[in-house]
Amino acid sequence: MTLTIAIDGPAAAGKGTLSRQIAEEYGFHHLDTGLTYRATAKALLDAGLPLDDEAVAERMALEVELSGLDRSILSAHAIGEAASKIAVMPAVRRALVEAQRAFSKKEPGTVLDGRDIGTVVCPDAAVKLYVTASPEVRAKRRFDEIVGNGAVADYAAIFDDVKKRDERDMGRADSPLRPADDAHLLDTSEMSIEAAFQAAKSLIDAALIKKI
Ligand code: C5P
Repeated sequence: MTLTIAIDGPAAAGKGTLSRQIAEEYGFHHLDTGLTYRATAKALLDAGLPLDDEAVAERMALEVELSGLDRSILSAHAIGEAASKIAVMPAVRRALVEAQRAFSKKEPGTVLDGRDIGTVVCPDAAVKLYVTASPEVRAKRRFDEIVGNGAVADYAAIFDDVKKRDERDMGRADSPLRPADDAHLLDTSEMSIEAAFQAAKSLIDAALIKKI
């Protein structure tokens, strides 16, 4: 039997790092589902195709290869913005969710992170976490990351982006970002990465013991 851990939350809440650490700890396969939306958006941008044609975007989504997803290529800000625009399209979501569900069945277990994993992609996941942090903390983390990489950043503009992305992800009609009813909430606003990992591990261990 495969065990699936579903991790959802808004942009820059720390769920990516946390998901990778959890997958390593339990020896599970990891899929950052945001990359599937990003890869679809990048394919459209590269081909000079519009971001508002659902049939065209669906065709690109059907061609996304999960094995070829590379965050270092897909992390660009413009790709994230484009991803959140095409993520409102039901046909795009249907295509990507099908691939994500197939991935979630890999043995011995999987960690999927995104916006709708606990609610739509894997509603029967063994453990669901909803990782969040205040918009101010999330914007500050992104700011520090950019400055840490030696680039120039504008906190006010980043904060604006975080709020806009939240509105788009939480406000869309199909699969809006929200915690599943049975998700454990983890607010990382005042937590270090290590503390968030330990808190997540305790929640997962407790949930897994109940399942066995
Ligand atoms: O998490 P990341 O910033 O890479 O995701 C990019 C965009 O893809 C999000 O803003 C969201 O609109 C979309 N997304 C989604 N459902 C997921 C993962 C990402 O709609 N499961």
